[in-house]
Amino acid sequence: MTDIRVGIIMNGVTGRMGTNQHLVRSINAIRAQGGIALADGRRIVPDPILVGRNKAKIEALARAHGVARWTTDLDAALANRDDTVYFDSASTGLRASLIRNAIAAGKHVYTEKPVATTVADALDLYHRAERAGVRHGVVQDKLWLPGLLKLRTLIDSGFFGRILSVRGEFGYWVFEGDWQEAQRPSWNYRKEDDGGIIVDMLCHWRYVLDNLFGGVRSVMCIGATHIPARWDERGARYDATADDAAYATFELADGVIAQINSSWCTRVRRDDLATFHVDGTLGSAVAGLTECYLQPRAATPKPVWNPDVPQTIDFGSTWQKMPANRVFENAFKAEWELFLRHVVDGGSFRWNLLEGAKGVQLAELGLRSWAERRMLDVPALDG
Ligand SMILES: NC(=O)c1ccc[n+]([C@@H]2O[C@H](COP(=O)([O-])OP(=O)(O)OC[C@H]3O[C@@H](n4cnc5c(N)ncnc54)[C@H](O)[C@@H]3O)[C@@H](O)[C@H]2O)c1
Repeated sequence: MTDIRVGIIMNGVTGRMGTNQHLVRSINAIRAQGGIALADGRRIVPDPILVGRNKAKIEALARAHGVARWTTDLDAALANRDDTVYFDSASTGLRASLIRNAIAAGKHVYTEKPVATTVADALDLYHRAERAGVRHGVVQDKLWLPGLLKLRTLIDSGFFGRILSVRGEFGYWVFEGDWQEAQRPSWNYRKEDDGGIIVDMLCHWRYVLDNLFGGVRSVMCIGATHIPARWDERGARYDATADDAAYATFELADGVIAQINSSWCTRVRRDDLATFHVDGTLGSAVAGLTECYLQPRAATPKPVWNPDVPQTIDFGSTWQKMPANRVFENAFKAEWELFLRHVVDGGSFRWNLLEGAKGVQLAELGLRSWAERRMLDVPALDG
């Protein structure tokens, strides 16, 4: 049986996400396992070419990870007919124009979120890709996190009965950069560089809510810039011009209410960096990135409000840990595999540029809701 080589032009891979999640944990991991097995016995083998602006950096990255091909010439890479997929994890602001070029060159497109900085641009990319007949996908990695896959199983099994509400807590303390190095890039905190937690996280919450709990119908969001000054990668002080926390409420289809706090200015005292607490008529569950705890109706304790005596119920111990029952892949790798199958066999792939545009739409509406101090409806985006 022959291998099916898929040449992938990977742009922006010297960055945090590009290197760790996409190159090392996805593409190289797929290569190391011998590719992706198809039903007929053939295997899809990705063959990346790394693209970057800085020759020394991109060459060093390629060497460090055993990648044979690298270049600083994106146009030449796009002109090579043997490489059929363009992947983008470079800075958000450049993305739309880079993807337009890739589509014009006839490439299939797979991209990090946000797919563009405006809904108009995001929809334009979708329409161009459709017209060109290329395949397209957007990173919606949270859907393949073990914790959320466990929630999916609970939903599908009817565990919750009617879902009433979802409370999400995302965040951790991101160091300011003065006395301890920051653990996120400084552009995240500058509006002029497309930073901000609303743009970053509401893209994620859109597909998490749409896919698991019900289509998002409205949004009310308050943002904040809690930390006004930070220190960048070179140790220079800069003004933080973007929001570093967002407190949002969403109405979903069928009356489900979701509230999600997103913050880079909070100290963690919960099981994980993101947790989702789901309450339903027949049971509740709390999922983190990997684990999920549940409490069915019949095992629900009966608290009685009495502040005069110390709490008698150890609430943490009244939840049951959900077993894994299967092996979970890295979430980014899981979606890459599905996308590469889609490229090769043309089967359906739901997480495309239109879904990406919906994420941008929710971020845009979140920012507007904050600016206008009101709840906003989310109009249907059906392309
Ligand atoms: N899916 C997720 O969970 C997730 C998480 C974080 C970030 N992201 C997204 O991934 C993207 C990258 O984020 P990051 O945290 O890796 O940032 P980063 O700053 O670490 O990396 C950005 C990359 O873009 C490159 N770049 C910058 N300007 C460029 C230019 N003018 N031309 C070409 N390349 C350029 C940089 O060299 C670097 O390789 C962003 O769009 C971000 O929204 C997604």
